[in-house]
Amino acid sequence: KKQERNIRNIMRNRLPNKILDILETAGEMAAEIGTEAYVVGGFVRDVLLTKSNLDLDLVVESDGIAFAKKLAKRMDGRAKYHRKFKTAVVILPDGQRVDVATARLEYYEYPAALPTVELSSIKMDLYRRDFTINALAVHINPSSFGKLVDFFGSQRDLKDKTIRVLHALSFVEDPTRIMRAIRFEQRFDFKIGGQTLNLIKNALKLNLINKLSGYRLTHEMRIILNEANVLRSIERMNELGVLEAIHPLMELNSARSQVIAELERLMSWYSLLYLEPPLSVWKTYFLAMCMGVSKAKMEQIYDRFSFSPSERREFIHLRDAVFWAAGNIMNIKQEMKPSEIYETLSPVPLEGVLFIMARTKREMIKKYVSQYLTSLRLKTIDVTGEDLKDLGLEPGPLYSEFLNQVKLACLDGKLKGRDEQIQFLKDKIKKSEKTKGA
Ligand code: CTP
Repeated sequence: KKQERNIRNIMRNRLPNKILDILETAGEMAAEIGTEAYVVGGFVRDVLLTKSNLDLDLVVESDGIAFAKKLAKRMDGRAKYHRKFKTAVVILPDGQRVDVATARLEYYEYPAALPTVELSSIKMDLYRRDFTINALAVHINPSSFGKLVDFFGSQRDLKDKTIRVLHALSFVEDPTRIMRAIRFEQRFDFKIGGQTLNLIKNALKLNLINKLSGYRLTHEMRIILNEANVLRSIERMNELGVLEAIHPLMELNSARSQVIAELERLMSWYSLLYLEPPLSVWKTYFLAMCMGVSKAKMEQIYDRFSFSPSERREFIHLRDAVFWAAGNIMNIKQEMKPSEIYETLSPVPLEGVLFIMARTKREMIKKYVSQYLTSLRLKTIDVTGEDLKDLGLEPGPLYSEFLNQVKLACLDGKLKGRDEQIQFLKDKIKKSEKTKGA
């Protein structure tokens, strides 16, 4: 017999009240309408691992859409739904989302004289999932609130720190699970189980990665590159042949590894110091993963990931800007003035600036980039377009040009205070009028 465990107290201790409230309300509703309701998946996994996770996934053994509408009404939220997938999401007034899915009863017809059996539908629902650690449910009906539902040895695998699939066709059903396995392995510092590892290797031999759409591939890759331990995940993908399967030009080499390792350091430095502007971390790592690939060959990679025309343009611009700025800054022999550093780096998106900093081995250049990130780019000036208007300058491109010149002069300490900056602008305007008159 299954050992039954109730984690009600663990939940009461670890979860915020508002989450408990939602679960209790949903459980009471389920009892009222005579169905069973469960909270499932990553949420349950993370409660047991004592990690915070506020993504609520409910499964009910009745019409999930009707259930969601009722829950929305009771909690003053609103419900959105997908008729086709029998799923819904309830959005509560504070923005909290609650996903609701339907577990259908499945009837299995046995041949000949044996009767049709009704399998518990939560079991079928859990069986369709990716890994045992994600296939736990907690019953939330009041009569058994907190009862853990573990059909597949999930608790054992959590304890053994093992990533294991539920059945042999898991990766065939959904090859993104190959990347998910690696992601969970690195995130929790678990190990992919032996059988599961063999199934991944088989899936790669069968070229299942090729069957993944660019959209889903991009989605998984971004998630991996946005997590901690990026280098370890990338090394694992490389070791198993996932990167090569995505595109042979993406295989890892030592230059790329070194830059990715350095980027990991810089990312924590950057996020400790500055919250703004938020940067697309994954793009920075993606630059490193494609290091050394020519502009022409990059098109194959953009194609594989199905970048949209605008994503493609943005990425091409990012690579070009890095190439241009890195070329300038690497060739520097003598000391750079602050204005020169600023002029070199300001056209480069921040993702590229961090990449330049990670790639260089020269301490002096690292210092320049750091100076740019921590101070130069943030320096403000004491004059604005309003002042130029007051000085009688016709609106046009000269506005930003002159203001930029004020900034450059200020960075080098040539202008002190607003009066000197106004005088500087007056001189500029006078000069421009002279050349126009000539
Ligand atoms: N799932 C699956 N196969 C996939 C994606 C998801 O079986 N390819 C299941 C898993 O059971 C997972 C649940 O759907 O727990 C929700 O998916 P998702 O939100 O992506 O995963 P989480 O486990 O919540 O992961 P994270 O902590 O990264 O949000």
